[in-house]
Amino acid sequence: MKTVALPAARAGSTQEGGDPVATFRRGGLPLLECHGISKQFGAVRALIDVDFDVYSGEVVALVGDNGAGKSTLIKAIAGIQPPDTGSFRFEGNEVKIQSPGDATRLGIETVYQDLALCDNLGTVANLFLGRELVGPPPLSALLHLLAEPEMERRAADQLRDLRVTTISSVHSPVATLSGGQRQAVAVARATLWDAKLVILDEPTAALGVTQTATVLELIKQLRAQGLGIVVISHNIDVVFEVSDRIVVLYVGRHVATFEQATTTREEVVGAIVGLAPAEPKQPHRAA
Ligand SMILES: Nc1ncnc2c1ncn2[C@@H]1O[C@H](COP(=O)(O)OP(=O)(O)O)[C@@H](O)[C@H]1O
Ligand SMILES: [Mg+2]
Repeated sequence: MKTVALPAARAGSTQEGGDPVATFRRGGLPLLECHGISKQFGAVRALIDVDFDVYSGEVVALVGDNGAGKSTLIKAIAGIQPPDTGSFRFEGNEVKIQSPGDATRLGIETVYQDLALCDNLGTVANLFLGRELVGPPPLSALLHLLAEPEMERRAADQLRDLRVTTISSVHSPVATLSGGQRQAVAVARATLWDAKLVILDEPTAALGVTQTATVLELIKQLRAQGLGIVVISHNIDVVFEVSDRIVVLYVGRHVATFEQATTTREEVVGAIVGLAPAEPKQPHRAA
């Protein structure tokens, strides 16, 4: 990894004045640390010795051209496609992420571009899909009665916590919702179960201007709740609007890290097309 070192004065400027965006990294350990991640598909080296970290309460934009390795990296973090080599630390502890269950147990949730919602079901049913709450024993357990009022209450609470106010009926099929609302339902589902890190793959790709703004507010809300967030986006305006740090992959390598507050679109685009200045890889913190 080559980290674009910020001049001391610029880096320091984000540490002062109570900037809420910068407070997350004062002294703390990263929520997630990926070290030396490599993944090869036949002759294609999709990821080459990638280091990547995310802190609680920050939004990291993961950017790069098509084929740069973004999806491969998030699939590794989500346990869908374990890397060939490399290690993970979560909340400071070395962890194995070899299956989606491993990631979920740690509190890592991923919202993929297709959202994986059931269109014919309502918001409540989608939020609890596969993790339905059952009513009080013994009768409910015997009859497989679901705790509908409880699920409805928790769904409403969750949407309110995320400041999602436009979904008028939590029982209408999600097919009837707008693209932004559907993204909100997918995010609400991902964060319903004690998520600590949420990965969003192109959350605004299919959305118009107003709905994009809604989703960006939602991401900021997650950050305000102290979650770590990784956003993949091709939209440089979205990247600058919502992220605290910008990590650039280029042909499988982590070539640059920028502080959003102190960088320019030109610098980021330059790194995306392979113009990042070379820097030596940082030594890894000893276990
Ligand atoms: N399952 C796979 N089989 C073979 N090659 C793959 C597979 N997944 C990804 N690749 C290759 O790995 C590289 C990185 O892909 P990917 O992570 O999807 O990039 P990005 O998401 O940044 O567009 C590309 O060259 C891609 O063709
Ligand atoms: Mg991809």
